[in-house]
Amino acid sequence: MKILVTGAGGQLGRALVRALGAMHEVVALDRQGLDLTDPAAIDAALAMHEPEVVLNAAAYTAVDRAETDRATAFAANAAAPALLAEAASERGAILIHFSTDYVFDGALGARERRGYREDDPTAPLGVYGETKLAGERAVLAHPGHGVLRLAWVYGNDGANFMKTMLRLASERDRLRVVADQWGVPNYTGDLADAVARMLDRPIEALRAILHDTGGLFHLSAIGPTTWHGFASEIVRLGGYADRVVVEAITTADYPTPARRPPWSVLDPSRFAATFGWTPPNWRAGLARCFSERPNGTSERGLSAVPSAN
Ligand SMILES: NC(=O)c1ccc[n+]([C@@H]2O[C@H](COP(=O)([O-])OP(=O)(O)OC[C@H]3O[C@@H](n4cnc5c(N)ncnc54)[C@H](OP(=O)(O)O)[C@@H]3O)[C@@H](O)[C@H]2O)c1
Repeated sequence: MKILVTGAGGQLGRALVRALGAMHEVVALDRQGLDLTDPAAIDAALAMHEPEVVLNAAAYTAVDRAETDRATAFAANAAAPALLAEAASERGAILIHFSTDYVFDGALGARERRGYREDDPTAPLGVYGETKLAGERAVLAHPGHGVLRLAWVYGNDGANFMKTMLRLASERDRLRVVADQWGVPNYTGDLADAVARMLDRPIEALRAILHDTGGLFHLSAIGPTTWHGFASEIVRLGGYADRVVVEAITTADYPTPARRPPWSVLDPSRFAATFGWTPPNWRAGLARCFSERPNGTSERGLSAVPSAN
């Protein structure tokens, strides 16, 4: 299969390129290679590379900054996927776009402690979620394309919660981490393998599945935890547990410009059943992530960006 990956410089984009490169012909375009706010560039890229599948891993992911930077967030998260979907449709390519748990408000956790399903009502709490919801709607308006909602993504590339916790643990003896927001951490390597599984079929079979199902899926590991639970496991696997205390705090103790859903758990049953994939437990994903850390990784040089989504 010929696959074009946009946003190939991001943490998910890099993992997709790595996982799919062995089996498929992959064209990896980072922002310099294809800026998705440029409609002519999108057309030119699809004309030049003639992909059968486009994986759109590009997004504006600065959840807090989006509150005051709506136009930029909207351009990347809503307008760009709309343009990509249109261009892909015109050329007969399948677009697989990535969305987020932040399309939900998290109120489900207080009523029923189950994962969100694809047909649960959306109600974003902030600008990032609003723009991502607009983007997924634009893609799904074209039957035969797909949208995979993800949550709590981390890996060895880019800036993410895991890397921030490791850096802080190397510098401090106490971390204060929110313990009243629930979700499931997802290793980019596991997500990329799931996408590879999804693409492991003839292109027309994939198109038929996306067409017949409507194309919307939740892709996630299993086993709900909190940011505090996630941080505790990161500290343990990082070898800091005998020195660093992970203190549980509340959302009210750690105010942020954008509100976060208190319950972000996605139910991956539909994706698993449709594509024959077994969701891993998030703890296994984190152990795998540690086992795949580049040799000589140092916490000192890591970015201070807090939990993005
Ligand atoms: N991270 C999470 O926890 C999380 C959770 C749920 C869903 N998701 C979704 O998962 C997907 C992948 O996210 P990620 O974590 O891999 O994000 P990421 O590491 O921030 O990567 C996003 C990439 O998109 C690029 N980009 C932004 N605007 C662009 C534009 N106009 N044209 C081309 N490229 C552009 C960024 O480039 P620059 O670095 O130059 O800005 C960056 O390399 C996104 O759809 C995101 O919404 C993420």
